[in-house]
Amino acid sequence: MASYILALDQGTTSSRAIVFDRAGQIAAKAQHPFPQIYPQAGWVEHDPMTIWDTERLAAAEAIRELPEGSIAGIGVTNQRETTIVWDKATGQPVYNAIVWQCRRTAELCEELKRQGLEERIVSTTGLLIDAYFSGTKIRWILDNVPGARQRAERGELLFGTVETWLIWKLTGQHVTDYSNASRTMLFDIHRLCWDEELCRLLQIPACMLPRPVENSAVYGTVQPGIPGLETLAGVPVCAAAGDQQAALFGQACFHPGEAKNTYGTGCFTLMNVGAEPVRSRAGLVSSVAWSVGGRTTYALEGSVFNGGSTIQWLRDELRLVDSAPECDRLAESVESSGGVVVVPAFTGMGAPYWDMYARGAILGITRGTGRAHIARAVLECIAYQVTDLMLAMRQDAGCDITALRADGGASVSDILMQMQADLLRIPVDRPAMVETTAFGAASLAGLACGLWRDTEELAALRRSQRVFLPQRPQADCDDEYRLWKKAVSRACHWAE
Ligand code: G3P
Repeated sequence: MASYILALDQGTTSSRAIVFDRAGQIAAKAQHPFPQIYPQAGWVEHDPMTIWDTERLAAAEAIRELPEGSIAGIGVTNQRETTIVWDKATGQPVYNAIVWQCRRTAELCEELKRQGLEERIVSTTGLLIDAYFSGTKIRWILDNVPGARQRAERGELLFGTVETWLIWKLTGQHVTDYSNASRTMLFDIHRLCWDEELCRLLQIPACMLPRPVENSAVYGTVQPGIPGLETLAGVPVCAAAGDQQAALFGQACFHPGEAKNTYGTGCFTLMNVGAEPVRSRAGLVSSVAWSVGGRTTYALEGSVFNGGSTIQWLRDELRLVDSAPECDRLAESVESSGGVVVVPAFTGMGAPYWDMYARGAILGITRGTGRAHIARAVLECIAYQVTDLMLAMRQDAGCDITALRADGGASVSDILMQMQADLLRIPVDRPAMVETTAFGAASLAGLACGLWRDTEELAALRRSQRVFLPQRPQADCDDEYRLWKKAVSRACHWAE
């Protein structure tokens, strides 16, 4: 009896596959890291064939111990915005995948701003003009790979974000889900279709774009003969969602005002805003969160570039700690950071500041400052940045946020979670099952193939591992947050 769901979680640094049972528990998992390619400063690429091979291997390993016929459906979730263009007939990519972090189209984005396209783009797509999103990356490939534009215009090339690429490899169907399409700067998030005028402005032939589809529906079935996946032939691929939206779903944030933050390398805060997109005035972006059974839910999103990576910096560059747990222990050994504030603007500041000329700073050092104070300030700067995002969300959405659900690598830190609850003055809820991204994709797939009935049933599967409540006096937290804002103002525009 088919009672498991396979989630494929294709991330920026590794390809993962996780099998979930009907109780939402992990039955098996496998993971394959893969190389990052840095051809020039600020450029980041992946090999699309490596993405496919590592994901295929992870899936093959995850299902190896299960009896044939036990997978009811497959859900795909992925690093978003990363752009792949390939030949429709041969399946050969015409260029490496241009990764979401890649800044190569920054100048083109400046040009689009100079053309006065900001309002047009934000009102249609919910996004700011930035090299982060896929549109200008597609344009770069068409402009720079010899013959690519002509081939695309003849209908010989296909574009896809990573879920599109994987679903095409698995089923032969050329589709993208609404949440991933929302991140291209070409998608009308109100009408749920490609915006022809924006495609023309960016000189992207519409015939290369995938068909936009809901997040929970059968897109096709696994083709026979895929090495390692032979036993999956005929299994429906029935869900897709960008990884941050999938985590929002996996954290059961099904009601407006419910929010999650993923404490990864960067931090991604998303809030469910309900059936209508919210236009941000505070530097956030709007995307489709998911569309299930004809009902679309939107999200407000804020991303900061350096979250957990600041702890890595402390470990690898400053060498003040040997590990993240040591950073926690040091931070706990002092009562406060002693007035020290770290601003981790290594690559500028993301939402809500959007200052690419900001640079990192450590302020407030005195003769008594030790490494414990700096370790504590590093954890605080992660919590401050998420606070910035949550305050912007409150301002934009005009509704109270009652709790924050936390996930991602750095959410294991109790002291960081406590700092977050103290700053936000709301409970911070860490789930027992931390694979929220993969579970989000599995949930969407399970709804499509009847393993789960509805979102209530899914919400009942979520268990909190620990809920952190505000403890420190609000006035102290407010004073420290004001110091953070002052420090950010010093770091902003630094490299201008
Ligand atoms: O927008 C980029 C995001 O989807 C990447 O997520 O988890 O692969 O770093 P991750």
